[in-house]
Amino acid sequence: MPKTLRAAVIGAGGIAVHGHIPGYRSVPDVEVAAVCDTNFERARQVARDMGIPNAYPDAASMLAAVKPDLGSVCVPNVFHKPMTITALQAGAHVLCEKPMALHYADALDMVQAAKTAGRSLTVGHHTRFYPPAAAMYDYIASGKLGELYYVKASYLRRSGIPGYGSWFTNKDLAGGGAMLDIGCHILDLALWFLGHPRPLTVSASTFAKFGPRAKGLGGWGADHFPAGARFDVDDLATAFVRFENGVTMTIDASWAGHGTDGQRLQIFGTEGGVELNDKAFGKELPVHYFAEAADALTEEPVPYQALPGSSYDHEIAAWVEGIRNGRPPLITGEQGAAVVQIIEAMYLSAAAGKEVRL
Ligand SMILES: NC(=O)c1ccc[n+]([C@@H]2O[C@H](COP(=O)([O-])OP(=O)(O)OC[C@H]3O[C@@H](n4cnc5c(N)ncnc54)[C@H](O)[C@@H]3O)[C@@H](O)[C@H]2O)c1
Repeated sequence: MPKTLRAAVIGAGGIAVHGHIPGYRSVPDVEVAAVCDTNFERARQVARDMGIPNAYPDAASMLAAVKPDLGSVCVPNVFHKPMTITALQAGAHVLCEKPMALHYADALDMVQAAKTAGRSLTVGHHTRFYPPAAAMYDYIASGKLGELYYVKASYLRRSGIPGYGSWFTNKDLAGGGAMLDIGCHILDLALWFLGHPRPLTVSASTFAKFGPRAKGLGGWGADHFPAGARFDVDDLATAFVRFENGVTMTIDASWAGHGTDGQRLQIFGTEGGVELNDKAFGKELPVHYFAEAADALTEEPVPYQALPGSSYDHEIAAWVEGIRNGRPPLITGEQGAAVVQIIEAMYLSAAAGKEVRL
């Protein structure tokens, strides 16, 4: 393996500029060799602004010319599968943004393509690299909670529809709304904490009460309601999931809704529970541990080691280190696929108005 690894970024939008490109640059002996975007002017602008030597109008020509060691897939969700497979077949290890794919079968094809190519595939569930979330994982893994049996997961925005009228709110391009876009993060954390048990059944409801009325817009993406804008995805979704090991989960996610916003994840065990809640507990120590002493109920903050740099920096650093040392990524393709499997079942359940068995 060469000492310096060369990365190429497919899609020069928000997550490329704010997450992946700075992330690669934070890692020693990694350089960003090229960026491409079907909006070629955008690719050229980002290359100029960020000092990237090459810009291309499409992934195929970039991959053929640059032959990168590492590839980032930072395009609208519907293109994750074809771009990931193309980059793997061109010999790159791939970091694909979340959600991994629109459909479980597509995600499995991506996993297979990585195996066939003998390359590492990881998915951008970067919240696993928040130091408090990592500390929460360690607490659970230590066995302090006893037998885990219930999870309550919630990622709610009061007014945060991204890119109204862009690909984000178009079902053909995004595949889904709030649950697929942000619910996927809290679901990935929950599955990680639980050790990825096999899901058995999913029952869900989805709503679109704000988007179709041009309400609930977030402070980023399109800052207006374009005429004829398409909104055919969920702006709130809620689900109940049963797992093979007897654990159950309730989960909800919203882009918009009349209530407080925030991320809250509670794991209940027979001997203790942990809760991530940056609204109730504050940003400093957002994870608390709940248990019972001889004569009292106890609650204590879960300490963690704050690290400089963003969760994208840590995600990319850990992935690259694994590649250099022949280790699988923390977030495997199979785990990215597990998130898609459950959310796809939620959408099927909501459309059918009944429970879906997996
Ligand atoms: N990890 C996170 O928390 C996080 C945050 C934001 C976005 N994302 C994900 O990142 C992906 C991109 O989101 P974004 O906010 O950067 O979107 P964006 O709209 O800002 O950027 C997407 C870019 O991809 C380009 N593009 C579209 N099709 C292409 C193709 N076939 N080849 C090359 N370029 C193409 C577009 O022209 C655009 O510039 C999405 O999957 C989104 O879910 C993840």
